[in-house]
Amino acid sequence: MNNKILVSFILFVLTFPLIAQKATKMGDFGYDDFQKPKFCGASCHVDFYQQWTQAMMSQAYTHHWDEIEYFKLAVPHAEKDEKVAEVKAGCNGCHTPIAFIAGDVPPPFPSENSRANESVSCDVCHSITGFEGDTPFNFNYIMSPGKTKYSSRKSGITSPEHEIVKSELHSSGDFCGICHNEKSPFGTWVKSTHLEWKEGPYYKEGVQCQNCHMTKAEFKSASMGEVQPDTKLHLFHGAHDPGKVKGTIEVRIHPDIREAEPGEVVKLTAALFNQKTGHKFPTGSVEDRIVWLHVEAVDSKGNVFHIPVDKKGFDGEEYTIAADVLAYQDMGIALDDPDFKGVQRDAVPVGDRIFRKPYFDPQGRMTIQQWNTKSFGPDYRIGPRETKIETFTFTLPNEIAEGKVKVVATINYQKLVTSVGEFLGVPEDEMETIKVGEHSTEFTVFY
Ligand code: HEC
Ligand code: HEC
Ligand code: HEC
Ligand code: HEC
Repeated sequence: MNNKILVSFILFVLTFPLIAQKATKMGDFGYDDFQKPKFCGASCHVDFYQQWTQAMMSQAYTHHWDEIEYFKLAVPHAEKDEKVAEVKAGCNGCHTPIAFIAGDVPPPFPSENSRANESVSCDVCHSITGFEGDTPFNFNYIMSPGKTKYSSRKSGITSPEHEIVKSELHSSGDFCGICHNEKSPFGTWVKSTHLEWKEGPYYKEGVQCQNCHMTKAEFKSASMGEVQPDTKLHLFHGAHDPGKVKGTIEVRIHPDIREAEPGEVVKLTAALFNQKTGHKFPTGSVEDRIVWLHVEAVDSKGNVFHIPVDKKGFDGEEYTIAADVLAYQDMGIALDDPDFKGVQRDAVPVGDRIFRKPYFDPQGRMTIQQWNTKSFGPDYRIGPRETKIETFTFTLPNEIAEGKVKVVATINYQKLVTSVGEFLGVPEDEMETIKVGEHSTEFTVFY
């Protein structure tokens, strides 16, 4: 063993207990220990900076819906209920890590333009050296901000600004799990994108989160650097990019017979294939999202008949079929309205199939407050590469016109249930309906 290797070995043995250390906590560093993203992006990482400003990472604290949920619901709730008190600071552990670490609780409102607005900044991710324990979750990052940046490549070019240390973690989906897995104060996994990926087919094939959300291209990562064949673009595109969401689920529908008369039953079968996501669909903020399958028949005269989905009979299925019922009563806690009756649970056509996992508060009511989640209903989301089958029994009404009937199956997606968004005054684009997939088939009515 030459001396250099021996010294590194001894250093490694001595520092290993320190490396296997505790997560960075509140008060460990101040705002000034972190570089501003504008600085990184001004003349060196121009393209990455612009990509990041277009991604939710740069808006995790300022985005209006985040501001509303944090200040209108989470903070007042945390101040009233000891059980969830930790989230007043904890939300920011992921949404604006430097404000959390600096101990700024709650941080100034986004309108005050403080450094909390930097959200998930360059230096947050590039100061991470590891995470505490075996499972990445609840911002258990270990950070070492300063002159050294941690990243997946030690490039040939030395940066004039900082040192670069190669970090295997940055090329692994485990890195993302630090913020993309969340356990509620009740110990339930309310966000599990990383865990879903780990038990799915992509992890087994070595496909990381980065392969789909930080795609590789022949590109320069810094203006003075060299073009690399596999530069990791900082796209982080997801739910807020309709192009990313479209085509996630392919739908095909067919009838059991091609000719029928009024009064007869046509059975329609739809197959829904998740061809695009590395985790379940929907994932992440599952408590907010709604994905539903709408099927309708249009006869030769243009009359439209909505066809409700057939029940399968599993436990809790009622939460996966759109109904005219109220939910989300626990918003009343923060809003000082203990008798709050709730708002529409689904706000989509009654009878449509919903692909979701319902979250329940300690009283067993459906909630969009993931921090107030004690249990779940059935997980009826569509897994990576899974195909789900849904059937529809259509008894042809007497008034259906003779001739061709076109049956259209549409999968729609909304980031936030409309009724909740309208109630809380969330900007409309958060409730926009995105058509994920569509297919149609035909049969003929004769008399
Ligand atoms: C959410 C975390 C995150 C944020 C925010 C982030 N990065 Fe990265 N960055 C990564 C990860 C992870 C990699 C490595 C990806 C891989 O290896 O697959 C990376 C790689 C890089 C690389 C090396 C790229 C290559 O292929 O050689 C540079 C340079 C970089 N980031 C700069 C920046 C700058 C500048 C910003 C802010 C504008 C930024 N990053 C914001 C996570 C982040
Ligand atoms: C320090 C915490 C943190 C880390 C590490 C992190 N993220 Fe995120 N990410 C967030 C937060 C917070 C949001 C939510 C932003 C919002 O909508 O408020 C988010 C949102 C996203 C979105 C959704 C964007 C959209 O359009 O809705 C994607 C995709 C994403 N992250 C991918 C990744 C990937 C891939 C990695 C690993 C390379 C990663 N993230 C690592 C905190 C993090
Ligand atoms: C095979 C490609 C693929 C892989 C691997 C993958 N994703 Fe995604 N991801 C997608 C697609 C496509 C979407 C858009 C559809 C959707 O919203 O689920 C998406 C959406 C997301 C969203 C937004 C979900 C929402 O509804 O708000 C987040 C966050 C996210 N991914 C994070 C991750 C993380 C973290 C990993 C790794 C643990 C990962 N993704 C692995 C393809 C992938
Ligand atoms: C463990 C990390 C973590 C914690 C803690 C956390 N979040 Fe998030 N949050 C995320 C990530 C990651 C996403 C993006 C998931 C996705 O795209 O589906 C997100 C998404 C959101 C969204 C949806 C954003 C959108 O535009 O659709 C809101 C609102 C939100 N969080 C508010 C909060 C509040 C309030 C708290 C505290 C009670 C909190 N979060 C705690 C990581 C976290």
